[in-house]
Amino acid sequence: MALSIDFRVRKASPVDASAIARVYVSSWRSTYRGLLPDTILRAMSEVRETLFWWTALCSQRNQAVTLVVEDQDSQVIGFISAGPERAGGSPRRAEVYTLYLLDAFQRRGFGARLMSAAADRLQGLGFASLMVWVLAGNPARAFYERLGAQKVATRTIRMGGRAVQEIAFAWPDLAFARAAAARDSHQ
Ligand SMILES: CC(C)(COP(=O)(O)OP(=O)(O)OC[C@H]1O[C@@H](n2cnc3c(N)ncnc32)[C@H](O)[C@@H]1OP(=O)(O)O)[C@@H](O)C(=O)NCCC(=O)NCCS
Repeated sequence: MALSIDFRVRKASPVDASAIARVYVSSWRSTYRGLLPDTILRAMSEVRETLFWWTALCSQRNQAVTLVVEDQDSQVIGFISAGPERAGGSPRRAEVYTLYLLDAFQRRGFGARLMSAAADRLQGLGFASLMVWVLAGNPARAFYERLGAQKVATRTIRMGGRAVQEIAFAWPDLAFARAAAARDSHQ
C-alpha cells in the first residue's frame, strides 16, 4: 500500500470535473446505500455530475474552495468543496458542501487532510467558523465529532419521495477545526 506522503492535496480546476464526478458518484453509492432510496443512487450519472462540476469550477467565486487529493499517478481519490454557508447565517461562517473519498481510501487520514487544507484556505479567506450538514444515519458524523464539531441543528428534507433527517455540525472557531484536522491527518 502506498504511503500517504505519495498523495498530494491541491486546488481543483475545471479539468478535474470528470475525476471529481467519478469519486462523487462512486462514494454516494457506497455511502448512502440503505440510507437513501435506490432510485436516487441508480439514477446518478457521471456525465451529468461532470457537467455540474465543470460549470461549478469554471464559475468558482473567490470565496469558494475546491481541493482534490490525488495519488502518485495523478488519480483523484477524494475531494472537498466549501464556501459561504448556504443558509446564510453569518457571512463569516463557512460550510463544507461536499467531502467524498473513494471507499478504498477511507480511514487513512485523507478526509482529515482535506479538512485541514480547506480550513487553512477558508481562514485565509477571512472565515471565522465552519459548519456541515450530514445525513443523520451517515457514520461520517463520527468523523466530524472526532474533529471537535458540535451538533447545532437538525432538519428534515425530502429526497426521492422519502423524508430524510440531516444534522448540522459546527465549529465555532475555524482555527480549532483546522488544528484538529491537522492532528488527525497522519502527516
Ligand atoms: C467521511 C470521510 C470524508 C472521512 O474521511 P476519512 O479519510 O475516511 O477519515 P480519517 O481517516 O481522516 O478519519 C479521522 C478519524 O475520524 C473518525 N472517523 C472517520 N470515519 C469514520 C467512520 N466512518 N466511523 C467512525 N469514525 C470515523 C475516526 O476517529 C478516524 O480516526 P481513526 O481511523 O484513526 O479511528 C470519508 O470516510 C468518506 O468519504 N466517507 C464517505 C462519504 C461521506 O460520508 N462524506 C461525508 C458527507 S457529509
